[in-house]
Amino acid sequence: MAVDYTTHDGVAVITLNNPPVNGLGLATRAGIVAGMERAQNDPAITAIVLTGAGKAFSGGADITEFNSPKAMQEPTLATVIKTVENSAKPVVAAIHSVAMGGGLELALGAHYRLAAPGAQIALPEVKLGILPGAGGTQRLPRAIGLEAALNMIVTGAPVLSEKLAHHGLAQSGLFDELVEGDLGQAALAFARKVGAQQGPHPKVRERKIEHPNAEGFIQFARNSVAGLAKNFPAPLKCIDAVEAGVKNGFDKGLAFERECFVALVQTPESRALRHAFFGERAASKIPDVPADTPVREIARVGVIGAGTMGGGIAMNFINAGIPVTLLETKQEALDRGLATIRKNYEANVKKGKLKPEALEARMALITPTLSYDDLKNADLIVEAVFEELGVKEQVFRRLDEIARPGAILASNTSTLDVNRIAAFTKRPQDVVGMHFFSPANVMKLLEVVRGKETAKDVLATVMKLAKKIKKTAVVSGVCDGFIGNRMIEQYIRQALFMLDEGALPAQVDRAIEKFGFAMGPFRMSDLAGNDIGWAIRKRRYQEYPEMQYSKIADRLCETGRFGQKTGGGWYDYKAGDRTAYPSKRVDEMIVAYSKDTGIARRKIGDEEIVERLVFALVNEGAKILEEGIASKASDIDMVYLTGYGFPLYRGGPMLYADTVGLYNVERAIRRYAAQPNGHAWQLAPGIAELAAQGRGFNG
Ligand code: 3HC
Ligand code: NAI
Repeated sequence: MAVDYTTHDGVAVITLNNPPVNGLGLATRAGIVAGMERAQNDPAITAIVLTGAGKAFSGGADITEFNSPKAMQEPTLATVIKTVENSAKPVVAAIHSVAMGGGLELALGAHYRLAAPGAQIALPEVKLGILPGAGGTQRLPRAIGLEAALNMIVTGAPVLSEKLAHHGLAQSGLFDELVEGDLGQAALAFARKVGAQQGPHPKVRERKIEHPNAEGFIQFARNSVAGLAKNFPAPLKCIDAVEAGVKNGFDKGLAFERECFVALVQTPESRALRHAFFGERAASKIPDVPADTPVREIARVGVIGAGTMGGGIAMNFINAGIPVTLLETKQEALDRGLATIRKNYEANVKKGKLKPEALEARMALITPTLSYDDLKNADLIVEAVFEELGVKEQVFRRLDEIARPGAILASNTSTLDVNRIAAFTKRPQDVVGMHFFSPANVMKLLEVVRGKETAKDVLATVMKLAKKIKKTAVVSGVCDGFIGNRMIEQYIRQALFMLDEGALPAQVDRAIEKFGFAMGPFRMSDLAGNDIGWAIRKRRYQEYPEMQYSKIADRLCETGRFGQKTGGGWYDYKAGDRTAYPSKRVDEMIVAYSKDTGIARRKIGDEEIVERLVFALVNEGAKILEEGIASKASDIDMVYLTGYGFPLYRGGPMLYADTVGLYNVERAIRRYAAQPNGHAWQLAPGIAELAAQGRGFNG
């Protein structure tokens, strides 16, 4: 049953009971209407309480129903709210924990609202690329005032219930009472009181929107939002809908809101945002690791290596209140690592993000050491030493000797084989890859690399821990580059081939940045250091002699142009300035390289640049899925959204491919495969199969 109905001495209690968050799916909506009718028809009932079981009043419309006929099937949320609002018997919404989206809209249809303190109140629809579609843009401004409401609607940010009670924020009148004690009992008592009063009972829709200069304020809001919203249509539509209500009254405003909602749900931006919402939650679910797998307790962490990555990794745990023992080989390295951590925290204090006293508290959670003995009690040890198998071997053999039984041993390696690292120990089941991204204290992505013997409870523990340290964790099988770097290698290969064939770095970067990437491949490479890619390629030439690469990047590196750190790379840089200036010298070098290798340069259009870069990701992503390295397409998208600057409004490479249509992706790949450098395109069989079935990666 999605809704429970009980009676208590003249009061009917309608309880939403649709775990996990009482989403307002079809069955729940129908249950509410049925409960309302039952209460109307029972002469013994004088008032109705509407509340939610479990961990929410309601998290809003059921997002899984969007784009399905169920979402539009009667009773729609609009019908439910109308039934509540038009009830002759007063309806009291009793809100605890969460009232969001349609949940809040439903409560706004009630005649009275009570709330427990600490409840999160929001209209978060904008975060899903839509706007409140069941009266939120019309009723919230009438309940709490134009400015506070518009702010909530446009940002989607939650506000605590205590700030929205009658005596809280100026103008706010969302809640009639805040209830410190038993909400259920208080709601029954309140309902009996108003049930005894003569109607009609107050309706939010009948309140006036009062503002000294509504038009001016709306214009101001529109100007501020326009710059921020850029590629997302929803925020400006929120303003339009609120304005429609202010100018033309409730009913016309409501009709306009509906129109905007229906249009926005269909946009690729909304699809992308909803995909990311579910993708983030789905990533933590591993198909063969049941949700109730017991987890190991992680109370103390050890980090080995206090360099670029080790320091950032340590900060993640400290920020979550988990003490860290940080091990280095030499005192100077340890001191340097600690100084960097302190400097990072000091910068946070300067920006007002951290209180000065919190800085010392965090530093106090680090125990620096040069001795492995100090890692004996660690529950998890993360290795972040030099990227050399020999060094990793030394460390893991030593860890095997000293770590307590059951401790998880993790490597932050970005390119080495986690199975080989695990084999350096007598406990490969406890070994896992934890591939953080740089800067590790900032980047959201964590690739959790599952070795062939990694135990299920180790995976479950690491996934849970990732949530605690606020990372988006995605499981990857063992392969060269894991999910993210394996795909980016194909993208960079294409970028370099295009230089050989006629493009220049600035053109490639401009095209892909226009598509929405935070940074094009050449600016990115200059920032990371071209020598890193060079070292990887040298290894590739040995390991995969049959694979063909453009050698233009090697030629650049041979001149010492490693990027920003050497004052020049693909671009020129001026001292103290990170702006990338196209380099005449490099452009000439590229043209000369084409000539030397006998390639006739041609004009390459922006569309081709974008297709070759993005479809290179898609094609490799499809192979990663086929090989089971990633268990679902949305995992790959989460890697790209959180670790590689793929534009959120496109939802990641795999969803983007679905949007384009795999039929079209396949045709484009076959076309590029027939061009010079076409050897780089080995069409993933999965793309052809799905395309033939008219399906996409996401169904
Ligand atoms: N519909 C369907 N499922 C939902 C949902 C919703 N509105 N909100 C959350 N869920 C599911 C999640 O997918 C997750 O499922 P899982 O356990 O199978 O992975 C489960 O509920 C728990 O979610 P969280 O892990 O996010 O749990 P938290 O306790 O951390 O957070 C929450 C709870 C604050 C409600 C958070 O889930 C959230 O922000 N949800 C989105 C709320 C939202 O955007 N509502 C607006 C919907 S659109 C709308 O109402 C349109 C209307 O205007 C017409
Ligand atoms: P780094 O050179 O900045 O730091 C390595 C640190 O390890 C140094 O401080 C060194 O003194 C210490 N060290 C070396 N041998 C040691 C040993 N036997 N015992 C204890 N400490 C030792 O290197 P960085 O960049 O931090 O990389 C570390 C690991 O993280 C590598 O495996 C690398 O592939 C991986 N990684 C690096 C990323 C990056 O962007 N830099 C991103 C993701 C992973």
